Amino acid sequence: MSRPALKLKQGPAATRVLGVGSTQPDKIVTNDDLSQIMDTTDQWIRDRVGIIERRFAEKDELLVDMAVTAGSRALADAGLEPSEVDTVIVPNCTMPAPIPNAAAQVADRIGVKRAGAFDINAACAGFCYGLGVASDLIRSGSSGRVLVIGAEKLTDVVDPLDRANAIIFADGAGAAVVGPSDEPGIGPVAWGSAGDLVDTIYMRDHKYIYQEGQSVFRWATTQIAPIAMRALELAGLEPSDVDVLIPHQANLRIVEAIAKRLRARGAREDMVVADDIKYSGNTSSASIPMALDHMRAAGTAKSGDVVLAVGFGAGLSYAGQAFLCP
Ligand code: UT7
Repeated sequence: MSRPALKLKQGPAATRVLGVGSTQPDKIVTNDDLSQIMDTTDQWIRDRVGIIERRFAEKDELLVDMAVTAGSRALADAGLEPSEVDTVIVPNCTMPAPIPNAAAQVADRIGVKRAGAFDINAACAGFCYGLGVASDLIRSGSSGRVLVIGAEKLTDVVDPLDRANAIIFADGAGAAVVGPSDEPGIGPVAWGSAGDLVDTIYMRDHKYIYQEGQSVFRWATTQIAPIAMRALELAGLEPSDVDVLIPHQANLRIVEAIAKRLRARGAREDMVVADDIKYSGNTSSASIPMALDHMRAAGTAKSGDVVLAVGFGAGLSYAGQAFLCP
């Protein structure tokens, strides 16, 4: 008896980002506000991290609420109805509990009924992991269009009096809609991990984030530019092709170190480098799509620009890819 053969549907050869959107809480927290409650100064934070102010969510403003807003805005930006999306991915690492996930409820509230829905925890690399998975789900024929929403409420997991972490982390969400394309619009993801460095960022007593700042800083400033280079190589691009560089907004000094290394390898002096951390803080998996959305609104990232994104963080894990700005 002959075995039945599986008939595989072929997906489209290429994908692109169709739209982006983001949201931040209304509450602005300045460095001076923080210096009222802990031993720090506006100058120290500006010099060492580059943050001028950040946004903190109120108690009743949840990660899923921010994800719904950012996701809906990305759909509107793409000119799509929720019914035209079938998969929702929510990269995050700050849901209050592992069960339930964020994605199913976010999909339902946005109006994507019966969505394939799951979270990704790759910490601050989460958005780039999600974008890579979304693109490949579409190319394989498994999904039609995918909404990827990086969303975080880091203030839930930061000791508000810990001056090493409370000055860095913040809240927000950023989203991208991914769909089929005639021309290649998203390059393959370059990803990986350094699990031997697991102890450099973790939750202390399952409650608050702790990080060995200097170890992570050293790792990020030396190991991440080569990942960005690999993402370019996988997309068949040269450093000089990059119009907009968006590293995860962990620390402005890390962002600048990555840009410097890429320029030493041929990236242009006029390459626009995201500095969204100045007014948004470090929002982990939300930082890259939020920066892109803000840069598009400001006109510093334009439709058709070659964007190079690279995320890195707890795990340690990292991922990056090149894509065209919608
Ligand atoms: O997003 C996930 C991935 N995370 C990252 O990429 C973060 C990477 N690490 C960093 O960005 C930086 O290491 C931090 C911003 C976390 C810390 O900056 P740093 O320049 O590495 O500071 P440090 O921890 O080495 O501390 C230097 C000094 C210390 O004082 P002493 O021992 O030299 O007297 C700290 O006690 O600065 C002191 N310090 C502060 N002073 C004022 C630490 N935090 C503060 C503060 N205000 N908030």
